[in-house]
Amino acid sequence: MAIDYSERRVQAYTIVFGLTVLFSIIELAISAWLTARFDARLDYFSIAERDGTHFILFASLWTSVLFITFFLGMFGMMARSRGDKVIRAITSNGFHVSFLLLTWIFWTAGAASITSVLGGGLNCSQTIFAYCGQLNAMEAFSWLIWILVTLATVAVLIQAINSTRRGEGFWGSVF
Ligand SMILES: *[C@@H]1O[C@H](CO)[C@@H](O)[C@H](O)[C@H]1NC(C)=O
Repeated sequence: MAIDYSERRVQAYTIVFGLTVLFSIIELAISAWLTARFDARLDYFSIAERDGTHFILFASLWTSVLFITFFLGMFGMMARSRGDKVIRAITSNGFHVSFLLLTWIFWTAGAASITSVLGGGLNCSQTIFAYCGQLNAMEAFSWLIWILVTLATVAVLIQAINSTRRGEGFWGSVF
């Protein structure tokens, strides 16, 4: 099957999706460390803080795995096996739109909940929270990931609408 994809689209995709994987893995490390501390020492300030951290751990793991799957699809496509059904499905508009919207909901919930728990952000010189620096970092990375996922979702939605207009439909390629 002929391969036709836009080089510029692949580059933009690699930057936005690559940064999301990088930040999700950093967020995964921070939230896993905090979760381990909270579980071992019970030194969380509130149940909402503990549960928000657990949820961000889940969202980070979800996002890392999903975006690595997106990349495997892209590499598969570039390795000229686009005729492969699995690769076509993974690189499709429909697959991207569905899972990106779900991921966007996770990060909206995760970033908003940890921000509300921390009252917008902690002042580390006068807080009673343990792990002030880690908590602020977790909040900052959650908003960075939220921004990237929002960008990716909007770009893929536009691409999906254009490709639907061209008659390629739900399973047209994002590239
Ligand atoms: C943080 O708290 C310290 C000590 O109370 C205060 O001097 C400082 O101005 C506060 N910083 C911010 C950004 O509010």
